[in-house]
Amino acid sequence: MIDILTAIRTTGAARAFTDEPVDDATVRDILDDARFAPSGGNRQPWRVAVVADRTLRAELAALMRPVWAEYVAISSTGATPFALGSPNGLDPVDVPNPLLDAIADVPVVLAIAADRRRIALMDGDLDRPAMTGGASVYPFCWNLLLAARARDLGGVMTTFLSRAEPAARPLLGLPDDHVLAATIFLGHPVQQPTKLRRASVNSFATLNRFDGDSFDG
Ligand SMILES: Cc1cc2nc3c(=O)[nH]c(=O)nc-3n(C[C@H](O)[C@H](O)[C@H](O)COP(=O)(O)O)c2cc1C
Repeated sequence: MIDILTAIRTTGAARAFTDEPVDDATVRDILDDARFAPSGGNRQPWRVAVVADRTLRAELAALMRPVWAEYVAISSTGATPFALGSPNGLDPVDVPNPLLDAIADVPVVLAIAADRRRIALMDGDLDRPAMTGGASVYPFCWNLLLAARARDLGGVMTTFLSRAEPAARPLLGLPDDHVLAATIFLGHPVQQPTKLRRASVNSFATLNRFDGDSFDG
């Protein structure tokens, strides 16, 4: 098994998978590892739907495709899609998305929800969209990807379905007060990405204050 630092440094997004199946026992073991993630107050607000039904998967893909088309349209302007100040109302750009097109055959599709009643939203009263709530569920999502990697599997965390949450809610039986945090795809990657493009420490770490000197010299 790869060591923890190698795993942290080499677990890239994998969106194409071989035909090799991943059995339910393995998925169960991955979930069993991921549950050791931290969460605010240890409330463990995550819920997971293991989406096996091919028709349901296709319905979810149909909801994600327009979000992808919107994403591509905004990306083409150079803006970060759906970020603060990014353009909206652009004509969607219909580009194939191989992951969504292959969704019925992806070995594992996990819908990850979070129970808002178990999330202390520390910045929920500020005059801006809250940020801290996600921190009680995304470490769990990341643990899923690391636990998959430990088994020579790969995958990707996606959020496009969250943008279509109202339409996805009845399809997934998403309870009231639960939100859709992510959809995670797992399988045996066609290619395990290992050389990740990430900015260096001196691009984001400063001394004492965010306007301080570079922490990395
Ligand atoms: C919070 C979050 C949301 C993401 N949403 C999507 C998504 O909706 N669709 C998608 O294809 N990938 C999504 N990704 C995957 C990122 O695009 C990917 O992690 C990033 O580009 C780094 O890719 P790399 O590991 O291949 O370098 C998401 C990742 C994170 C952490």
